[in-house]
Amino acid sequence: MSIPLLQLALDHTSLQAAQRDVALLRDHVDIVEAGTILCLTEGLNAVRALREQCPDKIIVADWKVADAGETLAQQAFNAGANWMTIICAAPLATVIKGHEVAQQHNAEIQIELFGNWTLDDARAWYAAGIRQAIYHRGRDAQASGQQWGEADLSRMKALSDIGLELSITGGVTPSDLPLFKEINAKAFIAGRALAGAANPAQVAAEFHAQIHAIWGEK
Ligand code: 5RP
Ligand code: MG
Repeated sequence: MSIPLLQLALDHTSLQAAQRDVALLRDHVDIVEAGTILCLTEGLNAVRALREQCPDKIIVADWKVADAGETLAQQAFNAGANWMTIICAAPLATVIKGHEVAQQHNAEIQIELFGNWTLDDARAWYAAGIRQAIYHRGRDAQASGQQWGEADLSRMKALSDIGLELSITGGVTPSDLPLFKEINAKAFIAGRALAGAANPAQVAAEFHAQIHAIWGEK
């Protein structure tokens, strides 16, 4: 298994606040995400500003696109994103259009798995050229008490078997990581656990220590 990366999700309601946390955390994470909340609040400028602040990082536009895959992918990748998310409920045509634009930019589409989707959908995304998905426990589902369970782990394994690389997110903290020890995760995505911490760099170090203890060279 490869060693999972650490992704910082910025779901701030102000770009200035997001950029303050980026300054504290950019040297401690592998990937920086312009979160859905930040982008809905600040627009495309959020992606541009993060690209400028982090010239050497992978930048994700977490837009959870449901339609207009071509236009929105052009916008995201021209603004400096490397990866853009499309929601699993989007028509396959949207995924295909987004993927075509991604290829032109040497970029990638990630499918955001929320709610209803099937392994047949996952096979169709893979056949269309998609190689990444995000396994997501939504904020609201988490707040209403949804825990990670065996069903999640077996769906993650089935997605890996199809060939999709998985990022895992949704209120993830360093102490959650052992739950996923059998999963070949590409990245763990953390928002509130990092950006909301009293000492963000220390929490990032705890994520890396867990990642290396679980997935590092044995
Ligand atoms: C919510 C998201 C968040 O960016 C993702 O869940 C990470 O944030 P947190 O760790 O705070 O849950 O895409 O839809
Ligand atoms: Mg996000």
